[in-house]
Order: sequence, then C-alpha cells, then structure tokens
Amino acid sequence: MKRFLSVFGKGLGIHGLISDTTYRGLNKAGAKAFTVVFVVVVVVGAYISASWSDAEVIISGRSSTKPLLHPLICSSDNQTQTCPPKRPIPTVQILDDVKSPSCPDYFRWIHEDLRPWKATGISKEMVERAKGAANFRLVVLNGTAYVEKFRAAIQTRDVFTLWGILQLLRLYPGRVPDLELMFDCFDRPIVKSRDYRGRNSSGPPPLFRYCGDKDTLDIVFPDWSFWGWAEINISPWHLLLKNIKEGNERIKWMDREPYAYWKGNPSVAAPRRDLLKCNVSETQDWNARLYVQDWISESQQGFKQSDLANQCTHRYKIYIEGYAWSVSEKYILACNSPTLIVKPQYYDFFVRGLMPMQHYWPIRGDKKCQSIKFAVDWGNDKKEKAQDMGNAASSFIQEELKMDYVYDYMFHLLNEYAKLLRYKPTKPKNAVELCLESMACPAKGLEKKFMVESMVKAPKESSPCTLPPPFRPSALRGLLKKKEDSIKQVEVWEKGHWRAKTARFRFCFLMERRGCNLVKVISCNKKTM
Ligand SMILES: *[C@@H]1O[C@H](CO)[C@@H](O)[C@H](O)[C@H]1NC(C)=O
Ligand SMILES: *[C@@H]1O[C@H](CO)[C@@H](O)[C@H](O)[C@H]1NC(C)=O
Ligand SMILES: *[C@@H]1O[C@H](CO)[C@@H](O)[C@H](O)[C@H]1NC(C)=O
Ligand SMILES: *[C@@H]1O[C@H](CO)[C@@H](O)[C@H](O)[C@H]1NC(C)=O
Repeated sequence: MKRFLSVFGKGLGIHGLISDTTYRGLNKAGAKAFTVVFVVVVVVGAYISASWSDAEVIISGRSSTKPLLHPLICSSDNQTQTCPPKRPIPTVQILDDVKSPSCPDYFRWIHEDLRPWKATGISKEMVERAKGAANFRLVVLNGTAYVEKFRAAIQTRDVFTLWGILQLLRLYPGRVPDLELMFDCFDRPIVKSRDYRGRNSSGPPPLFRYCGDKDTLDIVFPDWSFWGWAEINISPWHLLLKNIKEGNERIKWMDREPYAYWKGNPSVAAPRRDLLKCNVSETQDWNARLYVQDWISESQQGFKQSDLANQCTHRYKIYIEGYAWSVSEKYILACNSPTLIVKPQYYDFFVRGLMPMQHYWPIRGDKKCQSIKFAVDWGNDKKEKAQDMGNAASSFIQEELKMDYVYDYMFHLLNEYAKLLRYKPTKPKNAVELCLESMACPAKGLEKKFMVESMVKAPKESSPCTLPPPFRPSALRGLLKKKEDSIKQVEVWEKGHWRAKTARFRFCFLMERRGCNLVKVISCNKKTM
C-alpha cells in the first residue's frame, strides 16, 4: 500500500484528493483508514494506467484534449528513483499566425549578456574552460535534460535551479533547443572582462550564474528562489506573489508606519553592518527601523516572524545587497511601499528594468543615514509621488516578473545561447538524466512540498513572448545616462538639503552665543532641524 501514498497526480484535483484523504485517513486508524487507502488505490491505479497512454488522457470518464504531461509517480519510499521511459513529446497546437506580445523591456539585456560571443560564437573549448568554476554541467538533447555535477552547491540552490530548468522543459516541450552550459551557483560573478580584452584573447568562458556586475561577463539566470527556498521556508514565487498582493491590501499605504524598514542578516556584508548604525535610538532618528533576521531561531519557531506577506507594514522599505545581489529584492519591491535601494554593485536578470525615481529611490553607499532620512522626509511630504513610486515597483513585480515571464526569460536566454554554439552537444559520459522522479521522489519536507507546488502541470499552448531586439548602442548609452543622471540629481538635492541645514545650525549657534534668541524668527529649534 505504501507505494501509492507518495503519489502526486497532475491537476484536476487529484493531488489534493490524495493528500487530504491520506492524511485524514492516517490520523484516524482502523476501518476508515482502510477504506481511504482503498479509494486511493483505485483512483491512483486508474490514473497511472491512463497516464501511460498517449497525449490524450481519460480520467474517470472525463476526457481532456489538452495534452498532458506525465505526473510525478514515486514508486516507493526507499528505492532509487529511475526516470520513466521516454514518451513522445506532446504536440501542442500553437496559433502561430498570432504574434505573441512583446516581452518586457528587461529581456533586451539577454542580447547584452551574450554579446561577448556574438562575433565568435561559443566553442566546446570555451565551455570546458568554465568547468573549473561550475557546480554542474547541463546538456539538453531533444528536450531531455542531462546533468553532470562537479561539486556541491550552497544549500539546495543547484537542486531548485535544475528543478526550474526541468519545469521549463515541461512548459515548452520539444521547443528548448539542444545546448550545453556550465552553471555556478555561488553568489559573486567571476569572469573578469579585463582578462579577455585584446585581439589575442581566447574568448571568455560562458558561465551561468544568478548575478553579474559591471566588471564581469557572467551570464545571469533566474535564481533558485523562484521555485522555492526550502531552508528558510520561502515558497515558490507564483504563490508568494499572490500572498504579497493580498498582504498589500491589509494595511493601506497611508496607515503604514512612516519609516524605512529593513530586516535581514547583517553578518554577510560590511555595508549591512554599516546600515545598522542608522537605526533609531534615544539620541538619533534617521527614520530607519532596522531589525536583525535570525534564521536559526526563526526556523525553530516555524518562521512565524518571517512571513513575507506580512512585511509590508512600513511606508518605505530598504534594499541592501548581501554578499552579492539578494534574493530579497523582489519581495521588498512587491510591497507597494517605495523601496530605498542602497547603491548596488550587482544586478540579477530583471533589476536592470527598473528606473531610479520611477520604481525606486536611490540611496548613497556612503552617508546612508542622511540619505535615508532625506528620502523618508521627501516621501512623507510628497505622499502622492511616494505612492506612485511604490505602486510602479509593485506592478512591475506583479506584471513583468510573474512566473510566465521568468520562464520566458529562461527560454529566450537559452534559445539565444544555443544559437551561438558552434558544435553539436552530446551526452557527457558522467551525466545523468534529469526527471521529476529522480528529483522529487527522494525529496523530503519543504523541499518536496515546494517541488510539487512549483511543478508545471501542462505545456503552454501559446508561444513565449516575442523577444525585443537588442538596444541600439545610442539607446543603451542614453538609458544608462538617464539612470545615472537621475541618481546624481537625488544626490544634488540631498547635498543641498544637508548643506542648508548645517548652515542654519551654525548660524543659530553663533546667534545664540551672542545672546540673540532667534527661535521665534527662524526655526532654530533643534527638534525641527
Ligand atoms: C526498503 O528498504 C528496506 C531495507 O533496505 C527493504 O527491506 C525494503 O524491502 C525496502 N522497501 C521497498 C518498498 O523497496
Ligand atoms: C533526437 O531526435 C531525433 C529525431 O527524433 C533522433 O534522430 C535522435 O536520435 C534523437 N537524439 C537523441 C540524443 O535522443
Ligand atoms: C598575441 O599573440 C602573439 C603570438 O602568439 C604574442 O606574441 C603576443 O604577445 C600576444 N599579445 C598579447 C597582447 O597577448
Ligand atoms: C532598532 O531599534 C528598534 C527600536 O528601538 C529595536 O527594536 C531594534 O532591535 C533595533 N535593531 C537593531 C538591529 O538593533
């Protein structure tokens, strides 16, 4: 009997039915349990035999013409899971006469990330040179993924990244081209562009990872958290996005605390420790309310204090990088409270689509406290503008970063990358096939839960969004300049503001020493300064 208890079916309510009845059945022992298990066996039995038939599947008399993907079927608890035999790729009818809508603008950066190989293409030798830094090699052949692991990654980063790629292959069966790539799951980018300048250069190794910066050529790819971060109980993105949207309704912006909020782990980076100096105390108030996230005690208390949907309680939220980019950025931006972004060094795949002063408020890397105070005072003074900024960011996150687009970004990036390969990838000797069974069946606890929740249930019946063309060089320069100017503008305002304050303070101080009481004339009152 046990072998049937770990079955998760596809859609159509079967998964819910099995788990619910199973758990209830197990709690009340006896005859009831037997009945429940019996029902489960019948349902699952019918389902398994149906799922082995072709693309058209009939379940208890209901017929669906939607091509179905095979569900997750775990044969037993302690057996090594093997991948099921190949079945024909479900054919998806796509109305190709209707051109799909254009992808969000940040997809243009795909062209920029691949530009180093545009002229030369990518040779096998280049790919092999990236191996030293990679956690795994991924090969896709005929829509099947093979993976060769080189070394363990931090936590389950590699597992959920591979899980995401597997779901992409399910979403677009037969449409992801053959390819081979190296992936590094560590935080910081490492392929320095200065090492590959000059005519003699052998060409940079193409290395995939989660973020890049201005000095490196690493190719950025969506991080694991879109499918779940089991170690700290962060759900798959499509679920969280919905929760945060609902959470946003709970406290209207005007009713939120009129301060800038941050909660995180300061030990990972010096700028974060520096930020903590801006916290409110008896002697100062920079309008910042900062808290330390203690993941160990949180995990012991069931993560009650770290529910992301309940963290939209302040009018402003601070984003500051950790050891590199931080996964938290999308959760922070989703709050429809303006995000104060402390000058970042790194970028992930979507953040390049954000404009300062439209989607966020830029905070200086030095003088963080003054910068935060100025931003919060500005927003509390210009409430409508502040709300517009918060709403612009949260609708960017809700609309342009929904899971459909995350998959489409992966699709286009891999598709464009594959076009550059100058050789035909083959299955490496040590690579193993990647499939639902080998990944999800041995998984336990939250890992398993998140995998089941983020599993793609049916192939998409439309094409991916249309990839916008590369930036024209002048347009790209214009865009970068616009961003830079807008950040500089804020710095100018800030400097002017603080200079005026200092001047007033000095003036008042001098006047007071001469015995003039100007408190009533101009506000020399310390509290208002
Ligand atoms: C699980 O493993 C145990 C010990 O290796 C073995 O006796 C048992 O038959 C296995 N169960 C299944 C269902 O394979
Ligand atoms: C891929 O599919 C083609 C055509 O169906 C077939 O000829 C080829 O052998 C397949 N390659 C692999 C590696 O399965
Ligand atoms: C380029 O290659 C030539 C011949 O291999 C070598 O002599 C020269 O030093 C190289 N130049 C640079 C800048 O590496
Ligand atoms: C910041 O100040 C608040 C209010 O006094 C306090 O509750 C919080 O623990 C402080 N945070 C840190 C990191 O010290």
